[in-house]
Amino acid sequence: MKIIKVLPEGLIDRIAAGEVIENPASVIKELVENSIDAGAANIEISISGGGKDEIIIVDDGEGIPKDQVELAFYRHATSKIRSWEDLLKTFTMGFRGEALPSICSVSLMELTTFYDGERVGSTIKFDGGKQTFFGPAPPRKGTAITVKNLFYNVPARRKFLKSELSEKRKISEVIRRYLIAHPEIGFKITHDGRPVSSLPATKNLLERLESVWGDSITDNLVELAGGPSGPMTIHGYVSKPEVTRSSRGEIFFFVNRRPVLEKSFFGAIAVSYGTTLPPGRHPYAAVFLEIEPNFIDINVHPAKTEIRFADDGFMFTTLKKSLDKALALPLGFSLRSSTEPRLGSQTHNGPQTIPFGRARQEAFDERRLSMIPGEPASFESPVGPVMTSPQIDFVGQAASVIQLFDTYILARQNNEMLIVDQHTAHERILFEKNLNSFEIQGMPSQKLLFEEQVHLSPEEQSALDTAGGLIARAGFELRPFGGDQFIISGVPLDMGGMAPAEALKETLAVLGNNLRQGQELKLALAAAVACKAAVKAGHRLSEAQMRALIVELFKCREPYRCPHGRPTIVVMSRDDLEKIFRRK
Ligand SMILES: Nc1ncnc2c1ncn2[C@@H]1O[C@H](COP(=O)(O)OP(=O)(O)OP(=O)(O)O)[C@@H](O)[C@H]1O
Ligand SMILES: [Mg+2]
Repeated sequence: MKIIKVLPEGLIDRIAAGEVIENPASVIKELVENSIDAGAANIEISISGGGKDEIIIVDDGEGIPKDQVELAFYRHATSKIRSWEDLLKTFTMGFRGEALPSICSVSLMELTTFYDGERVGSTIKFDGGKQTFFGPAPPRKGTAITVKNLFYNVPARRKFLKSELSEKRKISEVIRRYLIAHPEIGFKITHDGRPVSSLPATKNLLERLESVWGDSITDNLVELAGGPSGPMTIHGYVSKPEVTRSSRGEIFFFVNRRPVLEKSFFGAIAVSYGTTLPPGRHPYAAVFLEIEPNFIDINVHPAKTEIRFADDGFMFTTLKKSLDKALALPLGFSLRSSTEPRLGSQTHNGPQTIPFGRARQEAFDERRLSMIPGEPASFESPVGPVMTSPQIDFVGQAASVIQLFDTYILARQNNEMLIVDQHTAHERILFEKNLNSFEIQGMPSQKLLFEEQVHLSPEEQSALDTAGGLIARAGFELRPFGGDQFIISGVPLDMGGMAPAEALKETLAVLGNNLRQGQELKLALAAAVACKAAVKAGHRLSEAQMRALIVELFKCREPYRCPHGRPTIVVMSRDDLEKIFRRK
């Protein structure tokens, strides 16, 4: 029999205190955790107005016995622990007995629940913390909670809530943690009355990751495996270094299934991937640590997203070892092949496999670059000085590369000096990649958990109409939503870190511009996406990234100019220099 009790004073004092209800996302976090603790097999989450108007969570868990429903809303009342010793060995998400009273004091809240074995259920209602109703309810398995008008009675806090869109993003971030932590739970998510996601329960983590990330990501994951190491076992998946995004938002860590945001875990990721990731890029990861509870302390912060380890050095080393092992899987990527230009003749004597395909890192962090006004936007415009021979002898480890003004890469190639414009070069690489994938299967798309509604101007709509079905091949998943409104449900993978509406609008703007220049649709769209996703000027690159960029550039069919005709490389020969310095 489940028994909710108020914790003894001494214990209350030892539990990390503090308010955890800051926004709709934190309400959802607390309520979903309660449903998980109640053993739910299915959880439904509905939000309206970005969670500011209404949040409804329905589960099919064990429910609350009738005589304890009121008690559940008392401060420090919990069924999950009784003593300090319990806290040290708890596996439950909750233990403070704080969430329900905190939420009910700042909203209109209603809870309907039914406890197995009883004859009827109960409904209880609160208005700003004051109980307004308690009575019987039909015996429907589980618990349903409605939270309306969050912070309606604390205007100062309601004022601090962000726009609906931004609250929705935070909610999506929180929900994704639980979707991944609990594949065995089926989730249904509804937004403003529209079902947006339905994830069936599965025993298979990879299957759940596919529902959350899409198969273009899950096809590029490596598994973290390994037996127990002392009191700890690690499992999960991380992405190959060529699949990256601009935020850490898709790196998930779970300790005993609890989502945690531990700095040292992110540190282990950063160290293991090392320079294989371009700056500002991060992998996808779902890392699960199972550890005996007495080796950790989750009572650090009231939100319980931080954890203390009895031996954090051991935790870090074990995690890093496991990551290193997974990431060191040979991917069979060769720096040299007979069909490619000759690379690195000074140090690479024959085909060489490098871990993670360093040379394939074409995704860089670029968010806002737009065409430089007044630049000739023609695919055919004359180009600057170009090399006459595609034979590149540059990438020998001995040849140095230098970044100038965070914009240009200086490199030596035999008797010539190359000056590469990092943005136009990257644009060219992405442009050819995009064109290729239009031909094959279309560009991979990053699915959005919450679809986004976007308003398109007449010019944007006209560019969209012209693009027709090709917009989907570019990785944008879109549908009309009446008038000038559209719903975005996916964006091209290379733009995964951009705000979806911004990614679409900026791409359409460049596309419209390219079309006005008379470009053929396919080229114009491939160029527009490349322009938005390419690394911009002013972005610091590591030496490995500069080398990778140049290697990739010389694999292009037309390495010497960007899709708009601007030069990607300027060459000065030793001869030219000698003339300048009047050596000759
Ligand atoms: N969805 C639910 N199904 C069944 N019981 C629930 C549910 N939500 C809450 N309860 C009961 O109400 C009690 C109080 O919930 P509340 O979230 O306030 O505290 P907690 O989960 O024990 O601790 P924490 O404040 O750390 O979340 C829980 O201990 C649990 O017994
Ligand atoms: Mg709780």
